[in-house]
Amino acid sequence: GAAELGPYRHYMQKEIFEQPRAIADTLDGINAIVPALFGPDAAQVFTQIDSVLILACGTSYYSGCTAKYWLESIARIPTQVEVASEYRYRDSVPNPRQLIVTISQSGETADTLAALRHAQSLGHAHTLTICNVATSAMVRECALAYITRAGVEIGVASTKAFTTQLAGLFLLTLVLAQTQGRLSAEQEAAHLQAMRHLPVALQAVLALEPQLMGWAEDFARMENALFLGRGLHYPIAMEGALKLKEISYIHAEAYPAGELKHGPLALVTSAMPVVTVAPNDALLEKLKSNMQEVRARGGVLYVLADADTRIESSEGIHVIRMPEHYGALSPILHVVPLQLLAYHTACARGTDVDKPRNLAKSVTVE
Ligand code: G6P
Repeated sequence: GAAELGPYRHYMQKEIFEQPRAIADTLDGINAIVPALFGPDAAQVFTQIDSVLILACGTSYYSGCTAKYWLESIARIPTQVEVASEYRYRDSVPNPRQLIVTISQSGETADTLAALRHAQSLGHAHTLTICNVATSAMVRECALAYITRAGVEIGVASTKAFTTQLAGLFLLTLVLAQTQGRLSAEQEAAHLQAMRHLPVALQAVLALEPQLMGWAEDFARMENALFLGRGLHYPIAMEGALKLKEISYIHAEAYPAGELKHGPLALVTSAMPVVTVAPNDALLEKLKSNMQEVRARGGVLYVLADADTRIESSEGIHVIRMPEHYGALSPILHVVPLQLLAYHTACARGTDVDKPRNLAKSVTVE
């Protein structure tokens, strides 16, 4: 009811603003990177695995896509990510040394549970879940678990569950890196420090809300939008497009920015806003030339640029300045303005934000 919502108009908005607390709770009490964070048997399991297969649906699938970049670059573990409903019905080549990782807010999604059981039937014994509900079927049926502490999520479009999943997946990356002998004491300390600072960094991003309300006025009049990202932030662009589709009913697609020229550039006109996730990472110069490709076709850019990127607003380029680049954890910050953009666009269009048409919070039947 209204009392629970406090100053917020919808549960989704409240949940977006709860993210500093949700991340702090999810990482609470972690003073060292140790396998036991994932259960008493984790140390033994982690020494036996040679690769990771992540299975999930919806927003949880995109957190898995982000984790693939971390697992391969930081832990150097070959990682695949697959939509649960595809994996369960195809012939795959099982590798008993692979760690199966399911990701689920509810822990009850029918496709993800069926994918887990399918993996087990193929001989996979090493199973782990990143899940927000400790009492769920997913947690009961997986050998190992990390419980995120987002708290109850009511808005159908997932927000705080996503960022806490990312926090849990980053911890998994660090633990596996350590198992592989790829995490020095200095690196461990630096990562722990960056994780501890996340709630404060998130507060700074949430303060950008008024600027995103400005963008939302433009988006509310559009019927299509493109989202671009590269590397670690390509899955963040996908999650941003999903959020906009789910609650504002605007058709949105995400592309890895380098792929623009291989098709979607044909769609770019002044009626196609192009949201660009622009962290100050190794791909920044490449991304800037992708942005030029859009401008040259009259496309209008909406850029989330880290403070140190030197991307400025100009004709056809709207820039919202993010904090300085946050390194490997940057996706956790960059997704927040995309959540706010979708939220305020939906509000401007007058849709039922917390209960979008045709969608369910937890899809427990196929
Ligand atoms: C539904 C929800 C999505 C969610 C997906 C997976 O489609 O509308 O927001 O991401 O299920 O849910 P899970 O509980 O498994 O993370």
